[in-house]
Amino acid sequence: MIVLGIETSCDECSAALVKDGQEVLSNKISTQIEFHRPYYGVVPEIASRKHLEWIYPVVESSLNKAGIGLTDIDGIAVTYRPGLIGSLLVGLSFAKGLAYAAGKPFMGIDHILAHLYAPHLEHDISYPYLGLIVSGGHTIIAKVDSFKSFKVLGTTIDDACGEAFDKVAKHYKLGYPGGVEIDKLSKHGSPSAFHFPKPSLHKGSHTYDVSYSGLKTAVINQLDKFWDGSSEKSVENIAASFQQTAIDIIAEKVIQAANDTGIKKIVAGGGVAANSYLRKVLKRNSGYDVIFPSPVYCTDNGAMVAGIGCRYLEEGEISPLNLNAEARVPRFRRI
Ligand code: KG4
Ligand code: ZN
Repeated sequence: MIVLGIETSCDECSAALVKDGQEVLSNKISTQIEFHRPYYGVVPEIASRKHLEWIYPVVESSLNKAGIGLTDIDGIAVTYRPGLIGSLLVGLSFAKGLAYAAGKPFMGIDHILAHLYAPHLEHDISYPYLGLIVSGGHTIIAKVDSFKSFKVLGTTIDDACGEAFDKVAKHYKLGYPGGVEIDKLSKHGSPSAFHFPKPSLHKGSHTYDVSYSGLKTAVINQLDKFWDGSSEKSVENIAASFQQTAIDIIAEKVIQAANDTGIKKIVAGGGVAANSYLRKVLKRNSGYDVIFPSPVYCTDNGAMVAGIGCRYLEEGEISPLNLNAEARVPRFRRI
């Protein structure tokens, strides 16, 4: 079974072909980083216009790389929620048109489920497990029961983890994407140079919820109020101290959830799952089975969409052609 997967929920325009849910035949990713870099963040209008320009050649080159034609595929999967609405609509409309014209089954895929599926491309993983999705738009700890169902145990009450990396980087003009630059700078800095606060959440917050806005503000205030150019206050030290605190916040909650639920298998995904300190700190806890995707499958990619698309197709879960894009998903329910 071969499925074409299309991903345009944010700023990566990607198309991939995956066989039987695991064998990646091609995974083309056209990144828009250079167009958003001057703004230190994704500009939605630029993103959707670039997707419009690139979607056809990206899909075509994905088919060429795999050496197959449209007639050889069994179905078309596409991200339809959540994400930037203009960006989602480009991929969704394209996928629907292609599926209709080629007479192939069409499957709308939830972006969080696709990120959760990404590690399955490279590993045989049984359910249930604790899923950790950390990206520019999401911070979720979930009990994952199957490729299409999960229950949220904890989430951020304000900024997403990757968003905090991006905003700190923007403020210090460290480069874009912020998470990647902070990860690199941290290797040359001391994580104990600054003591940034971890949040204490108010009563009524869920046990596994996290918060990033206080940390973000504290780090930014170092620049606004106290910056004196001294070597101790180097950007490398700021980056390393921020990174350690930001990652410890979420890593501690995942370990706590693993201990409380007795589910000792932790599977990570999303752009921040590429972070070198997160990978180190979670794997350091030897009592847990921790699985990370390769970095290329952490950030947005078509392969994870095509992979989960194979599972949907196997189960006959086909979407109607009037499926609409959704920027947000009001679906999270806790156990
Ligand atoms: O999954 P993704 O490509 O898009 C969303 O669905 O949001 O994640 C992008 C996010 C950005 O915030 C980026 O700064 C962050 O992932 N990121 C990282 C690293 N690589 C990407 N954050 C920390 N360390 C990294 N190595
Ligand atoms: Zn994503």
